[in-house]
Amino acid sequence: MTTTPPAPSPVEETPTAPAPLLSADDLHITFPGRRGAPGARAVDGVDLDIAPGEIVALVGESGCGKTTLARSLLGLVAPTSGRVTFDGAPLDYSGRALKRYRKRAQLVLQDPSGSLNPRHTVYDAVAEGLRIHRYPGDERAAVSQALSRAGLRPPERFFLRYPHEMSGGQRQRVVIAGALALEPELIVADEPVASLDASVRGEILALFLRLRDELGLSALVVTHDLGLAWNIADRVAVMYLGRIVESGRVEQVLTSPRHPYTQALLSVLPEAPGEPVVLAGEPPDPSRIPGGCRFHARCQVLASGEAAAAGVADDCRTKDLPVLAGGQTAQVACHWAERTAHSGRP
Ligand SMILES: Nc1ncnc2c1ncn2[C@@H]1O[C@H](COP(=O)(O)OP(=O)(O)O)[C@@H](O)[C@H]1O
Ligand code: SF4
Ligand SMILES: [Mg+2]
Repeated sequence: MTTTPPAPSPVEETPTAPAPLLSADDLHITFPGRRGAPGARAVDGVDLDIAPGEIVALVGESGCGKTTLARSLLGLVAPTSGRVTFDGAPLDYSGRALKRYRKRAQLVLQDPSGSLNPRHTVYDAVAEGLRIHRYPGDERAAVSQALSRAGLRPPERFFLRYPHEMSGGQRQRVVIAGALALEPELIVADEPVASLDASVRGEILALFLRLRDELGLSALVVTHDLGLAWNIADRVAVMYLGRIVESGRVEQVLTSPRHPYTQALLSVLPEAPGEPVVLAGEPPDPSRIPGGCRFHARCQVLASGEAAAAGVADDCRTKDLPVLAGGQTAQVACHWAERTAHSGRP
């Protein structure tokens, strides 16, 4: 009688999210202060994961640390403490390793007129990265494909153009093509549409979505405009004074924001119902981060007495909040939101 070997016992499958492509783990970046002044804690404890094929929007007002965080994820700023992990391995900050990383994770900056050399043709701009990395394949084919993926078709028509001969939207597409040429797995886009007319913003954002769908690209899209996050992101992370204060699925965070800061940001969008929330107090300063909840001096919920009514006003002023975990679960760093969620209030 022939026997077949027993089938390997099935591995327990737990329904966990896919391993993140990129992770920040308790990341801190402090810029030294001048002449003994306190340093600027631009990134002050951030956990953030980006899954393969996921688009995460990082939102928050100017100066909250978005660019510093974005740059550190690409290894352009070394963390003061904490770490960045890509594809399971911590970033290696040696020049050679960073160059290798640059092939897999690319930065797209805002303001194409600033990031494109006015004396370089579109072809040269897109081929630059290929040349730096001594691309072994057919350069012309790679440039064509990148332009085409960025929506500049037929690509040959754009090869010999100069930045000043193009519209703002086309220039941003050239910048994106330059990032795509090396076929990265991750794009970090810092305010990619901030300098564009409203009419072309949607087109550029739609391009990120298409790249995600067609190439499985992951992206962190930085924006100070919460409204833009709607159209593009799977998940949104709201940053305030160096920390993520709320994160979750985009539809959840934007339709039922739990953090007073997120609520305030949403209230000033043109389509928002009700009165816009005007935040009191001074603009946030990362060299003087207040104790307790870092938002407390400006918080409308604390100012209105709602936090006191929920019994958390003292906590708001004195009790620090934990760093939110970076994964997929919806999270908020707010004493009042936690308390009211537990007591069943809105
Ligand atoms: N190289 C630097 N040296 C000192 N302070 C910096 C430097 N870069 C950024 N900062 C400070 O860090 C904070 C966060 O800046 P940034 O990351 O550019 O914020 P955002 O992109 O959200 O506007 C700001 O207060 C800024 O002044
Ligand atoms: S913890 Fe208190 S001060 Fe901070 S956002 Fe929540 S309610 Fe406002
Ligand atoms: Mg910025």
